[in-house]
Amino acid sequence: MRKRLLRSARKVMKNAYAPFSHFRVGAAILTSNGKVFVGCNVENSSYGMTNCAERTAIFSAIAKDGPELEIRAVAVVGSPDIDHQVPCSPCGACRQVIFEFGPRAVIFYQGKKGPKQSLITDLLPEGFRLK
Ligand code: THU
Repeated sequence: MRKRLLRSARKVMKNAYAPFSHFRVGAAILTSNGKVFVGCNVENSSYGMTNCAERTAIFSAIAKDGPELEIRAVAVVGSPDIDHQVPCSPCGACRQVIFEFGPRAVIFYQGKKGPKQSLITDLLPEGFRLK
């Protein structure tokens, strides 16, 4: 499953709209009912309007299947050029969004010393919850 998610993330990374940073990111999420959804980063001339790959994937899943989303796993890959990967873990905002729908999710990503896997609660201790 890790390999399948990473493959999906690498594939969708090619669709990124990243003319400002030239840093393409792809993400794939696995839901509790076994579905995979993908997303890429979408930048904007007004830089702050950029949507990260992870949130694109999560929002697409909800748009398709509704708000009962439960995230089991997330794979994220990022690179300034398509054929090679650099370290890329989810940004702080995306950690909080992953936590909302997957408080026990496992995240697969490239760390500084190679491939890593971490629980979202290790990447985001004390994540915020309203209910
Ligand atoms: N980016 C993501 O898509 N996900 C992350 O978790 C980190 C950052 C994107 C946003 C922006 O388009 C580019 O990477 C450079 O910051």
